[in-house]
Amino acid sequence: MMFTMIFACDLNGAIGKDGDLPWRQSSDLQHFKRITMSKTMVMGRKTWDSLPGKLPGRRHIVLSRTPRDDVEVLSFEEVLELGESEELMIIGGGEIYQLFLEHTKEIHKTIIDTEVEDADSFAPSMEGEGFHMIGERFVDAGPRDEHNMIFQHWIR
Ligand SMILES: NC(=O)c1ccc[n+]([C@@H]2O[C@H](COP(=O)([O-])OP(=O)(O)OC[C@H]3O[C@@H](n4cnc5c(N)ncnc54)[C@H](OP(=O)(O)O)[C@@H]3O)[C@@H](O)[C@H]2O)c1
Repeated sequence: MMFTMIFACDLNGAIGKDGDLPWRQSSDLQHFKRITMSKTMVMGRKTWDSLPGKLPGRRHIVLSRTPRDDVEVLSFEEVLELGESEELMIIGGGEIYQLFLEHTKEIHKTIIDTEVEDADSFAPSMEGEGFHMIGERFVDAGPRDEHNMIFQHWIR
């Protein structure tokens, strides 16, 4: 299976609040764009709803139990099968990270240096899952970032 996960979380693992990202972090969006460009992205329906539309240069697959005509919808089983033949980027949200964690070999994790109050979506717990970090980069907040951040790369 070729599943790669990418997420940004706060110091407590929070990734979302009220259906959106809990921060404005332009440098992390640039990082996301660089990692996902030209790849196939898999996301939950709620994350799809949070996007302004399709992001350029990437195939979008949405997991939902309801068919829709604005985007390609596949079942969990169909995504697992597609993951046998190409690298799939798992881009959230909380439900979908949890669902795919056991099938994931690589994680791009950004730690946003903040503590979100009343978050309602969380990153999967990597504790005891056999991942080890192979790269780490500390980046100060730029003019269009609210917080400092750490880019980490994990594999197993
Ligand atoms: N910080 C980050 O890196 C990051 C990344 C992505 C998202 N987010 C945030 O995360 C939040 C959304 O996460 P979430 O956990 O609420 O929702 P989600 O994971 O984006 O989507 C959940 C939906 O996925 C579908 N689904 C889940 N399991 C399924 C299965 N086994 N088969 C078919 N469909 C399935 C269902 O859609 P239906 O209800 O249509 O059936 C479910 O309601 C937002 O706040 C978003 O901004 C953060």
